Amino acid sequence: MQIHSSIPEMRAARQRHGRVAFVPTMGNLHAGHIALMTEARAHADCVVASIFVNRLQFGPNDDFDRYPRTFQADCEQLATAGVDLLFAPGEAELYPEAQQYHVDPPEIQHQLDGEFRPGHFRGVATVVLKLFNVVQPQVALFGKKDYQQLMVLRNMTRQLALPIEIVGGETVRAEDGLALSSRNAYLSAAERAEAPRLQRILSGVRTAVLGGERNFARLEREAVSELERHGWKTDYVALRRQSDLQVPRASDAQPLVVLAASRLGAARLIDNVEVDALNGH
Ligand code: PAJ
Repeated sequence: MQIHSSIPEMRAARQRHGRVAFVPTMGNLHAGHIALMTEARAHADCVVASIFVNRLQFGPNDDFDRYPRTFQADCEQLATAGVDLLFAPGEAELYPEAQQYHVDPPEIQHQLDGEFRPGHFRGVATVVLKLFNVVQPQVALFGKKDYQQLMVLRNMTRQLALPIEIVGGETVRAEDGLALSSRNAYLSAAERAEAPRLQRILSGVRTAVLGGERNFARLEREAVSELERHGWKTDYVALRRQSDLQVPRASDAQPLVVLAASRLGAARLIDNVEVDALNGH
């Protein structure tokens, strides 16, 4: 695996390949990231990954400084996964001057996770467009674990007419159901044992909806209360339409997704479960 930290070198390396599939990350890689690398291989002969902890998408009270950085171990995992090129720029390379031009996503950037992380999706969209301009992939892969991020980036790519196919990868979970995340490292042993409750509760909401429950607001409230009883501090539990993440009408027959963000100790965990009532799964 070749590693490049400069934009011109990365571009030159990329030009030596035809079709490229790209997986952007912030490092501290786990099996969820690696599953995206493996899937990328099915889409192109050349797989490019990036590692860059993007300050623009972190708020002033977010975990930018303590975000786990494990570059050597990450490189070993990427090489083992058969990644061809890694783009790992320093901050001065990607942001040599204060970034003043941004991608400003529409209203959805202020909802759900965006309500609690002002500026987050603007920072994500801006860095991803910038990475796309460097790597120039034909295909880019993002995890459904970050469902709202996937939707924002899919819509950005379509609306800005970028010649890139966006592919969503399924959420990879630990055996007890907890979605893998770099932020799981912030959990104590006791919190780690508690953490799978989030996914269990979201699956319970899904079961209730598939069983015919249409009082979505009550399901959301009950989920929040149950989390609270077990020491969680919840930002939101929300049943939304998969297509646009807007609030469904009770009569909506279209596929839904239940999304949540909740804090357990020092960790803020997000997760979601798709509810595809039409297909019954
Ligand atoms: P990061 O959190 O490192 O995630 C990189 C990619 O891995 C994202 O597409 C994310 O959705 C995916 N991912 C994370 N955990 C996953 C899991 N358990 N199962 C499947 N996929 C998973 O998301 C970011 O970085 C950044 O916002 C980024 C897009 C790189 C822009 O800075």
